[in-house]
Amino acid sequence: MEKEQTIQCIINDRTVSTDANPNMVVLDFLRGDQRLMGTKEGCREGDCGACTILVGELNNGVMDYKSVNSCLMPLGDADGKHLITIEGTNLHDQLNPIQQAFVDEGGTQCGFCTPGFLMSFTGYCMNAQSPSVENAVRSLDGNICRCTGHPPIKKAAAKIIERITAHPSTNGKSNLQRLVEQKVLPPYVSTIPEQLKALHRSDGTLADVKEQTHIVSGGTDLYVQRAFTMVREGGKRISQQKKQPVIWEEGNAIHCSGMTTVEEFQRSDLIRSLIPKIEVFAALFGSTPIRNRATLAGNIVNASPIGDMTSLLLALDASLVLRDGTQSRTISLRNFYKGYKQIDKTKNEIVETIILPKPKHPRLINFEKVSRRRYLDIASVNSAMVISLDGNKIMYAHVTAGGVFATPLYLARTSEYLTGKEISSDTISQAVSFIQQEIKPISDARGSSDYKRLLARQVFLAHILTFFPDLSLSKELM
Ligand SMILES: Cc1cc2nc3c(=O)[nH]c(=O)nc-3n(C[C@H](O)[C@H](O)[C@H](O)COP(=O)(O)OP(=O)(O)OC[C@H]3O[C@@H](n4cnc5c(N)ncnc54)[C@H](O)[C@@H]3O)c2cc1C
Ligand code: FES
Ligand code: FES
Repeated sequence: MEKEQTIQCIINDRTVSTDANPNMVVLDFLRGDQRLMGTKEGCREGDCGACTILVGELNNGVMDYKSVNSCLMPLGDADGKHLITIEGTNLHDQLNPIQQAFVDEGGTQCGFCTPGFLMSFTGYCMNAQSPSVENAVRSLDGNICRCTGHPPIKKAAAKIIERITAHPSTNGKSNLQRLVEQKVLPPYVSTIPEQLKALHRSDGTLADVKEQTHIVSGGTDLYVQRAFTMVREGGKRISQQKKQPVIWEEGNAIHCSGMTTVEEFQRSDLIRSLIPKIEVFAALFGSTPIRNRATLAGNIVNASPIGDMTSLLLALDASLVLRDGTQSRTISLRNFYKGYKQIDKTKNEIVETIILPKPKHPRLINFEKVSRRRYLDIASVNSAMVISLDGNKIMYAHVTAGGVFATPLYLARTSEYLTGKEISSDTISQAVSFIQQEIKPISDARGSSDYKRLLARQVFLAHILTFFPDLSLSKELM
């Protein structure tokens, strides 16, 4: 493998230059190399949140911090960025108000999970324009505590939000300045933008890695599925080449860079105008730190039959622009999947852009997911549906189903059947029969084949009842 450039980043208040393996995960660098042991190692699979840190970068001159699972982030992606670990939030002479609230409310016992919770919560305070207890608690969706229990942690969160909102940001002060003044963050944080500008930055073109094994975006699939291979052999990390904006309008379509994260997707005004309930749907995807790294392209190319974004994008008739050097081609996502984990893409092709056509007529969109836990779990079955109506008549319908076939599945025959039909119990009943013919679920850890058949029917009915709450369905369907 060719040697890559030295990685330069700021960790807490120190500039760090290293020639360490860029494919190792940040967690191991922090604990093994930097001896910053406050960042804990739990599952190494993005599930427990014990390893949560904040990663900040300058976007248009403004610092943008995100909570991430350091166990899944390649060190190379830290180049040019600011990493804050639990040690970097200490005031040295006293606990900061977030730490104090956790102590006061009994939000910590063994303490193993505590740094992760504190980092997620600090990240929320740094980003929230109008902080609320509900959203603060939601930002802890990637952190699990096994001994204290979550109620005292929620109480601590409520206490902090009360304190922060009692002194709202005034005189054009940024969140960061306000949090430094309130001693939630230590003073050095205000100097980071200038320090980051002074860092040597790679120009985004990383040295080519010979015998590259994989294209790596967020790494949230790759570093779970093949953690050791990734560290040993690495891949072509493309996230440093990301350019803003990641989502833009072009002609009659919305274009998303393949590197758009799920969090960027759900926060985009353009996407919210296209998919009004995107926030509700995206909340079912992983956790905040996972959504901060997981990309649309990664979800599509991973080709898991239960990819949540993929299911939604299939229903929205997305197309992909695939690029290999100077060559590019566009393909409908509905033609991309050829068999289990088989896709119409060569090894070196990158999903550069995902194109979402704007609708010509008003339409309704719904997404459903059934998993053993409502949040932070993968689906047993998921489904998306898009429908456009002319009175009681369906102008068009697009239905998808995940977890019931070898690939993410666009239900072509069901969608075709529904088009042009009147909305009625009979129509829905027929559509249910079509769905059962189109799917081929297998029994696995997420449920038996029969159970998944039942789920496919139920999630379709959930779409229908969401769109038409007053529709009376026949007894057999209920
Ligand atoms: C704790 C946890 C929870 C999760 N929850 C969910 C969930 O609720 N729903 C869900 O659908 N998924 C979930 N996932 C899976 C994962 O987060 C998603 O599939 C994510 O979208 C993958 O994106 P990534 O950028 O991290 O992919 P990576 O791991 O970087 O890559 C995945 C695959 O895509 C390829 N790839 C990546 N980017 C490109 C590109 N631009 N062009 C070509 N190929 C590319 C890689 O080579 C690799 O084959 C979860 C994962 C974890 C660890
Ligand atoms: S160690 Fe559990 S999420 Fe990273
Ligand atoms: S305090 Fe022990 S796991 Fe949370």
